[in-house]
Amino acid sequence: MIRLEPRMSTAARAVQAHVHGALVLLALLLWAPDAQAYRWYDNGAGSGCVQCHTGFLNGNGPLHLQHRTQFGVTDCNICHPNGGSTKPVLTYWSGPGGGYGCAGCHGQDYGETSPNSGLPKATAYGLRAFHVANGITSCGTSGCHQPGALGHPNPFPTLYGENVAPPYFAPMFTGLTDPCSSTQEDLPFDLDSVGLDNDGDGAADYPADSDCPTPATPTPTPTPGASCGVAPAPGCIASGKGSLQIDEKKTGKEKLKVTLGKLQPAVTQGQFGDPVNGTTVYAVCVYDAADQLRGEYSLVPPGPLCGTKPCWKAVSDKGYQYKDKEATSDGLVQAKLTGGDVGKGQIKIQGKNSSGNLPIGVVAGLMNNPSSATVQVLSSDAACFSIGLTEIKKADGTVFQANGP
Ligand code: HEC
Ligand code: HEC
Ligand code: HEC
Repeated sequence: MIRLEPRMSTAARAVQAHVHGALVLLALLLWAPDAQAYRWYDNGAGSGCVQCHTGFLNGNGPLHLQHRTQFGVTDCNICHPNGGSTKPVLTYWSGPGGGYGCAGCHGQDYGETSPNSGLPKATAYGLRAFHVANGITSCGTSGCHQPGALGHPNPFPTLYGENVAPPYFAPMFTGLTDPCSSTQEDLPFDLDSVGLDNDGDGAADYPADSDCPTPATPTPTPTPGASCGVAPAPGCIASGKGSLQIDEKKTGKEKLKVTLGKLQPAVTQGQFGDPVNGTTVYAVCVYDAADQLRGEYSLVPPGPLCGTKPCWKAVSDKGYQYKDKEATSDGLVQAKLTGGDVGKGQIKIQGKNSSGNLPIGVVAGLMNNPSSATVQVLSSDAACFSIGLTEIKKADGTVFQANGP
């Protein structure tokens, strides 16, 4: 059963404290239709989408990680009210500054205004229909969301078809552009291989949903998504010993060396994704002591071959190795990601500016807050890895060298 979370004024709470029995029951019955159980992911007392979908909890569940990395989210505020980790995360609005919350992808903008915030909102009519079809009737028109109730129009607007892109399906917010594309929408960890049934008609994506036009290009290329967040990602696999060296002393000869060793838990090859037979790409992110992003390096191979050899190859069943003499991808020439037992896994990445592709000016950025740094390696469809470096060896504006933790 759904736990209702009626909004009560202080006066109402006081009244409730002083009345008993039937009166309370009657009052609850009267309040029940205002049960905005799903205004939030979690109202702090376990009520909201979290009742059934726990995967965002603490910011490190599988749903949280996959939503962020898989869909190329550009800004934590598309869900959070004021920066990553701030709460409550609302389902229809993300906070002052705008944004549609979960409904930005799971709903559509029908030109409606929220009775709660007074601001434009998106509404997830399709998602509600999907829940009803899956036996969760509380979200349906016979449950809380009846036409005319809770500020809804009466009658409801005609639902947009599967082919209409929700507001967040735009490069400004995410790597998602096509609501008919399973390649873009599907999360690899769930059981099926299709994405959202955006309009809740029981059919998801092309070709199942007849709203979806035949794609112009026969095989839609997925937008590989691994980009650094504005702040370090939470819930990454920690490294027990690592280092960062960025040398920008000589123009044209700048160098980068990142090591995340002694990965704390046991790490499997699969936790690095699969850059050999799959489509995994990576990003190396460098943050200063104030958690400001100061350096971002994308590890996206130029193609299957680097020179005459495959860019990536497997390292037994433990991990993967990358080599590109041309340093095409942000100056990165080498990467080795290996897993193993507790404390054995290691990530090593090196770059140089021989081809002019290595992002520079990172050392200068780190000078603003040189007391510590955080280095993360994110993958597009698997785990992320992180280390905080507090032992600063050199930060003179041309070289930054730190060990950690
Ligand atoms: C009472 C349980 C329950 C609650 C509460 C609930 N859901 Fe669901 N949800 C389900 C079930 C059951 C499914 C179907 C099985 C599945 O895909 O996991 C589902 C599926 C989904 C899907 C997949 C849709 C698709 O097209 O594949 C999304 C997205 C979703 N829910 C979002 C939400 C959001 C957002 C909230 C809060 C506003 C929420 N759910 C609240 C039970 C619930
Ligand atoms: C797709 C929506 C979404 C995006 C995008 C998102 N988050 Fe979250 N995040 C959530 C939800 C939902 C929760 C759980 C909130 C709750 O438990 O009330 C959460 C929780 C967290 C928490 C734990 C907070 C706590 O006190 O339990 C952290 C930390 C966090 N997010 C960081 C981030 C960062 C950093 C980013 C951007 C890089 C980000 N999130 C992007 C939805 C999102
Ligand atoms: C950037 C767009 C975007 C935002 C914002 C977003 N989602 Fe999703 N979400 C998706 C897509 C796309 C899928 C489809 C995954 C699939 O079907 O494989 C999904 C899937 C889900 C699922 C089902 C996972 C499964 O088992 O396949 C749940 C539950 C869910 N989202 C909840 C939420 C909640 C709660 C929020 C707000 C805190 C939210 N989402 C915000 C894009 C988004």
